[in-house]
Amino acid sequence: MLDQASKAFFHLLARSRTLKAIASRQGMRRPTSFARRFIAGETGEEAIAAARALERRGLLHTLDLLGESVATLEEADAASREYLRVVDAIVASGIERNISIKLTQLGLDLDRASTVDNLRRLLDHADGFFVRIDMESSKYTEVTLQIFETLWQHNYRHMGVVMQSDLRRTDADVARMIEIGARVRLVKGAYREPSSIAYASKADVDAAYCRQLEQLLRHGNHPAIATHDPAMIAHAKKLAAQHGIARERFEFQMLYGIRRDLQESLVRDGYRVRVYIPFGRQWFPYFMRRLGERPANVMFVLRGILSDRGAAS
Ligand code: FDA
Repeated sequence: MLDQASKAFFHLLARSRTLKAIASRQGMRRPTSFARRFIAGETGEEAIAAARALERRGLLHTLDLLGESVATLEEADAASREYLRVVDAIVASGIERNISIKLTQLGLDLDRASTVDNLRRLLDHADGFFVRIDMESSKYTEVTLQIFETLWQHNYRHMGVVMQSDLRRTDADVARMIEIGARVRLVKGAYREPSSIAYASKADVDAAYCRQLEQLLRHGNHPAIATHDPAMIAHAKKLAAQHGIARERFEFQMLYGIRRDLQESLVRDGYRVRVYIPFGRQWFPYFMRRLGERPANVMFVLRGILSDRGAAS
């Protein structure tokens, strides 16, 4: 995990309209293009094909139609209707029914009531699905949890939330979700956050992750341990063994294209492993967050761009 300064740099790039336009033109054009390592493609068909390939290898998946921070309520409505079509395509394909969504995609920056309506419409439509509400930057943490809790009280139980260990509030939030029996995906946190509310050092984030992991494994409802960090994974395995927690009672989750070796070795060892498959035209901010997590990815991208140039010339 990079420090907050590096995250800040990539979050700045993520907001650049020029880069976004260049990347959208370049990034997905060739099947070998650099963004394809992390993003399954621009269409639902490509995402479903990627999901099928994972299923053949014994992996589970969740599909994420990329998009965040829409600017108008019409865009939010269009995004939620697009999600309904994704749900239909998943049902028609026969793959496992599991999706992840972001509330700013459904209008959270604009109007809370419309966001709830859009989410409810999606949950009603997604019969037999599990719907994970991704967690965005700390600006949205409390409102996301409140919306989740409201729908939970209205008996929408086929959904779960995400908790970010880098936030100082998360120990309390984990307890809050355990209390109601909600399903939590635990991540380290991908957003740039001020040190007043977030841990700045990797050691502090990792310590928080281990603490919360233990709470969720021992007292939570089917927690998802979403990390590529071998130390966190080893800790989870050790805790599960110590407390006699069966492998069916939790799952590991990783991002598409990251540590495929580790994903497969966990499956071989009998663990449940779910891969988060992002797809869609709005891939640039997601891609920038992945670059910000690991300097080696920047080299990977640069090599990809150079080899694309070479191939084109
Ligand atoms: P850490 O960053 O310490 O990395 C450990 C090791 O993993 C690295 O040494 C490297 O080997 C590998 N690795 C990590 N990131 C890599 C990358 N980008 N490319 C290549 N290798 C990499 N965040 C959030 O804020 N809200 C959310 O809703 C989600 N949702 C989500 C779902 C799933 C399934 C996963 C796995 C992750 C998320 N995240 C997220 C992202 C998360 O917060 C975090 O930024 C990344 O998972 C990276 O942190 P790690 O736990 O992997 O550890």
